[in-house]
Amino acid sequence: DIVYVLNGPNLNLLGLREPEIYGSTTLDEIAGILEDRARQLGMAIDTRQTNHEGMLVDWLHEAQAEGARAVLLNAGAYTHTSIALLDAIKAITTPVIEVHLSDPKLRENFRHKSYVGMAAAKTVEGYGADSYRIALEAVASGEV
Ligand code: DQA
Repeated sequence: DIVYVLNGPNLNLLGLREPEIYGSTTLDEIAGILEDRARQLGMAIDTRQTNHEGMLVDWLHEAQAEGARAVLLNAGAYTHTSIALLDAIKAITTPVIEVHLSDPKLRENFRHKSYVGMAAAKTVEGYGADSYRIALEAVASGEV
């Protein structure tokens, strides 16, 4: 089973970017940790990052077309703005788990609304880099 791990804007700078909020682990390191965990769970992952909204839409469609087991989606700030991502998640039957390192609900008001969360099967937020692993385990356990 392949799980797509899709990351949106500014997450290429993870580890450098506001480490007091997002931690010092890079996206490559997260991908490595997830890869090991996925192997233990009998799954595989495909981790990608883009700063472009439409690319995330294309990858969600691709996840469905390729028969991915699930998608872990950290859409970054597009989480709070993108009706296109909401529609894309609704357009596919592949389950999507919303992932955030920080807990946006504890931050500025403009992060409290999540379009991704309106269609996601589950949300995992506030556990730093561990949020991704917890989301992967929810797939492996059959919860999602
Ligand atoms: C984030 C939270 C978003 O509000 C923010 O725009 C990000 C990162 C997180 O993982 O905590 O870019 O998705």
